[in-house]
Amino acid sequence: MKVVVTGGAGFIGSHLVDALVKRGDSVTVLDNFCSGEREFLEQSSENIEIHEVDLLNDDFSAQLEGVELVFHAAANPEVRIGETQPEIMFEQNVKVTEKVLESMRCAGVSNISFTSTSTVYGEATIIPTPETYGPLNPISEYGKSKLEAERLIEEYCAKFGFRAVSLRFANCVGARSNHGVTFDFVNKLRDNDKELTILGDGSQSKSYFHVEDCVSSMLAVLPTDICSEGEFCAFNVGSEDAIDVVAVADTVCNAMKLEGVGYEFTGGVDGGRGWKGDVKTMLLSVELLKSKGWKPKFDSQEAVHSTAMWLAERY
Ligand SMILES: NC(=O)c1ccc[n+]([C@@H]2O[C@H](COP(=O)([O-])OP(=O)(O)OC[C@H]3O[C@@H](n4cnc5c(N)ncnc54)[C@H](O)[C@@H]3O)[C@@H](O)[C@H]2O)c1
Repeated sequence: MKVVVTGGAGFIGSHLVDALVKRGDSVTVLDNFCSGEREFLEQSSENIEIHEVDLLNDDFSAQLEGVELVFHAAANPEVRIGETQPEIMFEQNVKVTEKVLESMRCAGVSNISFTSTSTVYGEATIIPTPETYGPLNPISEYGKSKLEAERLIEEYCAKFGFRAVSLRFANCVGARSNHGVTFDFVNKLRDNDKELTILGDGSQSKSYFHVEDCVSSMLAVLPTDICSEGEFCAFNVGSEDAIDVVAVADTVCNAMKLEGVGYEFTGGVDGGRGWKGDVKTMLLSVELLKSKGWKPKFDSQEAVHSTAMWLAERY
């Protein structure tokens, strides 16, 4: 297939690109490299087209000609930034998605696979949370922006017959991780291997999953294969367990072969959250995706452990 990956130089996007190239797809990457890295694309660079494009401000319609499917992974994924600069979430996650959809419509491309998030559920009262859970009530600007993007995509399905898959990811980790708690802990411990500051009260419990499982999920449910015309399908993606932030810290210390590190908790905000908008408990039901033949290979601890090892070696 001829495919475009927006945000293809990022953490998840670059792994997806590697997998698509392995499958023999013809891949074009659109990225402005604000957080993506050219180095992440080295493995596939001879077999892909790379365009340095800012999706918000540049015209990229020419790159969509003849394309069958767009993986839209470009976004600002930093939940914390949304609380101080909500306009960034609106621009990068909502406006950019609208621009991608409209450019696709103009170019006659109607298949989209979207990288959404568990944060669209807000503080779910059913754990593990299924896709049918409602009402969707995100508590962060990031979650709100992704939900708004999903609604735009649904609108393009209803009005213009798009076929869409939205993948609601838990916390994805793995080689090339460039943000998130595992990344933060490794960096902090490199600076000070005696003491680690942990945001919140330490009881936040979340599901982590490996980027290998992330990419296999994206390929397991391609809109070209599973959606009928005008259909929008949402799938949760994650591992089948959750660990608390202290277990993440223990796992990172273990991977970095550090003993006796003292943990200092900030206490957090709003009842022990790491930051405003931080969901305290997250575990997704992945039964729907499993019914399509997908299964995660790694549990939360294995995923965090291998990520911490990769980060510790790289930096
Ligand atoms: N990593 C996770 O745990 C996680 C969880 C849930 C959802 N997601 C979603 O998955 C997707 C990929 O996330 P990631 O973790 O790989 O983040 P990332 O920051 O590594 O990737 C985002 C990519 O998009 C590019 N980009 C951002 N704004 C752009 C713009 N305006 N124009 C062109 N390129 C732009 C960046 O340069 C980067 O390469 C995002 O949509 C994110 O919201 C990630």
